[in-house]
Amino acid sequence: MAIHLLEAMSREGFEEVIALHDRRSGLRAFLAIHDSTQGPAFGGLRRWSYLDEDQALRDCLRLSRAMTYKCALAGLAAGGAKLVILDRTELDLRASYRAIGALVERFAGRFYTGPDVGTDAEELGWVAEQTRYVTRPDETGPGLLAESTCAGVFAGIAACLRHLDGEEDWGRRTIVVQGLGAVGRGLSRLLLEAGARVRASDLDGEKAERVARELDLELVDPATEYDQACDVFAPCALGGILHDLTLTRLRCRIVAGGANNVLVRSLHGERLHERGVLYAPDFAINSGALIRGALFHLEGRRESVEAIGARIEAALEGILARSREEGLAPVRVAVDEAAARIARWRGESPAEG
Ligand code: NAI
Repeated sequence: MAIHLLEAMSREGFEEVIALHDRRSGLRAFLAIHDSTQGPAFGGLRRWSYLDEDQALRDCLRLSRAMTYKCALAGLAAGGAKLVILDRTELDLRASYRAIGALVERFAGRFYTGPDVGTDAEELGWVAEQTRYVTRPDETGPGLLAESTCAGVFAGIAACLRHLDGEEDWGRRTIVVQGLGAVGRGLSRLLLEAGARVRASDLDGEKAERVARELDLELVDPATEYDQACDVFAPCALGGILHDLTLTRLRCRIVAGGANNVLVRSLHGERLHERGVLYAPDFAINSGALIRGALFHLEGRRESVEAIGARIEAALEGILARSREEGLAPVRVAVDEAAARIARWRGESPAEG
């Protein structure tokens, strides 16, 4: 179904959505700025082979709004945005990223971009040729971005285990990690160091073998992660994986990972709750890199990875405590809490947020 863009923007409170076409490079991209009332909007730059522009726009809008939720729950004076590039073989990559840089520069600091799937140090170097409002993963930037995400997810999993069992007891835990990229690999390492048993998958078979050898972990076939009996399922690949068909297959007690937009719709978080599975909301647990990047730009400092882990753990503990007290799914509590904070920034009543 096609998106009614202005309807969606008004329903979800978006400030601005831009469609970008650059004839010379072949660039086709969307930028969504969800909120910049509190401070600059932060949002990474995703390059992906979308099926069509509708899918790309939807992804852009969802990810942008989730960034505002992350800022609200992490207590940052910042908001959310997202850039997506529709990847195609005919793209002139360098020229495309330079065109993106010129767009970011036009916002004069109201919007910062940074790494995401498909965009890393090299591509961000091209963006930085045109603008300084970019978070680079090299020594000119905050550094330790994926490490900050991993520390937050690890601390969040610990909070979930303590919430259910009163202790972490890593030696008796099995965690299934989906995706062995920057986040899945780093998280697996932390879990193994803590003494947990880790089973993991990656669609890229060579990468899976390489990481399995390096970390000495067990592999499972992609798409069988959902069927594995375990304590924690940690999605660290792409979003949109938990829906009517997959959630009934889960044999875990907790879902907590680094991927963005894990649930197809937030009602799937409520279904998980009804089934007795604790779902740690993605935007509450995976904000480590955002915190590190935002504090670098806003306050000119590099927050320690430990402090970031502690901050996310405390925020998640608050959400889980409220969830228990009020008998609501954690995702409902987290969405309500984020929406209430955003409404306060905007001077609206929560119902309007
Ligand atoms: P990455 O691109 O380094 O790794 C993703 C990995 O997942 C790749 O190895 C890919 O082959 C694998 N994969 C894709 N689909 C899969 C599937 N269906 N089954 C198994 N493996 C699959 O990305 P990164 O940085 O590790 O990010 C992972 C997720 O975490 C993404 O959703 C990203 O948006 C999110 N995230 C990452 C942050 C960061 O600091 N890198 C911050 C916040 C969220």
